[in-house]
Amino acid sequence: MSVVPAPAWRRAAQPQDVQTLEPPLFALRDLGVRYGAVQALAGVNLRVLPGERVALVGANGSGKSTLLRVLHGLVRPSAGQMRRDGTPRVAMVFQRPFVLRASAVSNVALGLWLRGVRWKQARAQAAAALQRVGLQDVVRRNARTLSGGQQQRLAFAGAWALRPDVLLLDEPTASLDPHAKREVEALMADFAASHGSAGPAQPLTMVFSSHNLGQVKRLASRVVYLEHGRVLADLPVHDFFNGPLPEAARLFVKGEMT
Ligand SMILES: Nc1ncnc2c1ncn2[C@@H]1O[C@H](COP(=O)(O)OP(=O)(O)OP(=O)(O)O)[C@@H](O)[C@H]1O
Ligand SMILES: [Mg+2]
Repeated sequence: MSVVPAPAWRRAAQPQDVQTLEPPLFALRDLGVRYGAVQALAGVNLRVLPGERVALVGANGSGKSTLLRVLHGLVRPSAGQMRRDGTPRVAMVFQRPFVLRASAVSNVALGLWLRGVRWKQARAQAAAALQRVGLQDVVRRNARTLSGGQQQRLAFAGAWALRPDVLLLDEPTASLDPHAKREVEALMADFAASHGSAGPAQPLTMVFSSHNLGQVKRLASRVVYLEHGRVLADLPVHDFFNGPLPEAARLFVKGEMT
């Protein structure tokens, strides 16, 4: 009997391929999400390890935002299960940032205050987070008057202020001009190189969705391709762009690259 090796994209999805003894931060098994009649995710098996930078790619409506919401705990699976290792601190930057008509520093401080940090301390931590993202000159400006790129950096400051172990980013540069895009990408790279709440031994984990394959190449360590709520490919970034892919994923990459 001859043994035919599985195609690379199938092999990569096998749990035994994970070359580390570290427990996964997230382990999704046969996970499904329904919104009424819409099956947004189906049969998703996914393990995310500490320090990974996972890019979720796929066409509109393929389930990227839903998967991020599941990881954040905002959406409950309607089938299968998700296990988390311990209680990682998870922060998310949403596809459309939510900005209150208040100063930049109050916007960030509010997120901390809602988690039990006293207001004075929350403002001090918020100011530090704004400095981290380069918004130190607009700390007191009404956040609604900030540019799109600045508002996105404000959202990053809000996430960063929570000192997350896991940062979830939903199309973080989708509506930005090239200059603002580069700034936000630099922040992503900077955050990816940092660590979680337990210190340097615990690298930050990042999961982000993107339609920008150049950005995926630059920032991801691994790529998960979704189609109609299913994971069709799950590969190290190099293999995703250089190796064989299922036909649908190949056509998607070709279409997005031209
Ligand atoms: N709150 C909701 N109620 C009903 N259907 C929803 C809801 N949110 C998402 N959906 C549907 O679930 C499917 C997956 O949507 P999702 O937003 O996860 O896709 P996506 O990959 O993030 O798309 P995009 O690239 O446009 O952001 C789509 O068919 C969408 O219409
Ligand atoms: Mg989305």
